Amino acid sequence: MFEHIQPLPEDPILSLMAACRADSRPDRIDLSVGVYRDARGQTPVLAAVRRAEQIHLQHQQTKAYQGMAGDPGFLAAIAGLWRDDASRGEGDRWGLMQTTGGTGALRQAAELIARCRRQARVWLGRPCWGNHPGVFQAAGLALAEYPHADPAGQRLDGDRLLATLAQVPAGDVVLLQVGCHNPTGIDLPLPIWDLIAEMALRRGFLVLLDLAYQGLADGLHADAEPVRRLAARLPELLLCVSFSKNFGLYRERTGALAWLAGTPAAVRAVQSQLFDAVRASVSMPPAHGAAVVAGILTDVGLRRLWQDELEAMRLRLRDVRAQLAGQLQAAGSPRDFSFLLSQRGMFCFLGIDAGQARYLRERHGVYVLDSGRANLAGLHAGNIERFAVALVDTLRR
Ligand SMILES: Cc1ncc(COP(=O)(O)O)c(C=O)c1O
Repeated sequence: MFEHIQPLPEDPILSLMAACRADSRPDRIDLSVGVYRDARGQTPVLAAVRRAEQIHLQHQQTKAYQGMAGDPGFLAAIAGLWRDDASRGEGDRWGLMQTTGGTGALRQAAELIARCRRQARVWLGRPCWGNHPGVFQAAGLALAEYPHADPAGQRLDGDRLLATLAQVPAGDVVLLQVGCHNPTGIDLPLPIWDLIAEMALRRGFLVLLDLAYQGLADGLHADAEPVRRLAARLPELLLCVSFSKNFGLYRERTGALAWLAGTPAAVRAVQSQLFDAVRASVSMPPAHGAAVVAGILTDVGLRRLWQDELEAMRLRLRDVRAQLAGQLQAAGSPRDFSFLLSQRGMFCFLGIDAGQARYLRERHGVYVLDSGRANLAGLHAGNIERFAVALVDTLRR
């Protein structure tokens, strides 16, 4: 069976992580992998998470199977994060299930799309998160592209984005990221979301929203405004949610898939298809992260603590962006980095090519992806000036 199978090339992010770990320079700077880091360069367990875990372990009665929809307490608690009317009950046009992280939600969405319309194409922004294409291709779906940013990946290309979406045929699916766009940091302003809702309605394409950073762009409620706006206008919608970043639960694989359908009967039909698909893949999602999220959201004190911690992460990311723009200017940057200030979240494109990324790595011990994408959460008071000087040196060569 295995005699003739060939190994695939290594994932570039994972090999970069390994190279950074193997680099013995004590002042190396890792801006490669997409996890949040605090001012000490750590990715800590949030205090709210730690407390919720202790309570959960004390009160846990069983580890019996939980069911394909996941933890009912978790599902009841999370819907209010993006809905103002989360307790509507009977006649509700929203369905919701727990998934194995945000990636699991995207994969379930892909399976559903393939079951509804195998010839549907999924439109991804250029550039998009590196895992998006593979997730949809794995379900046998074809891909198409709309421009999200200019070729440097630093400024929104709203006109070309809208002009392209105006050509998307009925029955195709358009994936849009809500907040802290990965990899550009460029989010869509609300007037563009309104135009997209209008277009989706007029042309009949389905919008799939990827909400992986809620609370880290402009705040917990503000970040879900595009979801509420689209849900108020469109008959159908898919929403993939990740709790990896905003709860720091990366390895617990905690996420959700929500769907909006025309009628309660359609909501149930979609659910039965999703359950059938999940039964044949992971059978049911893992419990621990969902129990922690539910424990936090349903306890007034823990919820406040979590929101404070989330807000601290959000403000730190904004502060790092502002500081970096200032440090680059102070270091005599030949380029304008003011775009950093209007972007959100952890990521940006530095505007360097693979050769410059290699120089940054070899000469300065700074690790960014060959595309020039950097995770700015890896910067802090102890390394930001050195990074700015290293980048300016690289740009000047
Ligand atoms: C845009 C986007 N969507 C989805 C995810 C998936 O997150 P996870 O599967 O870790 O919950 C990520 C993670 O980096 C992401 O950046």
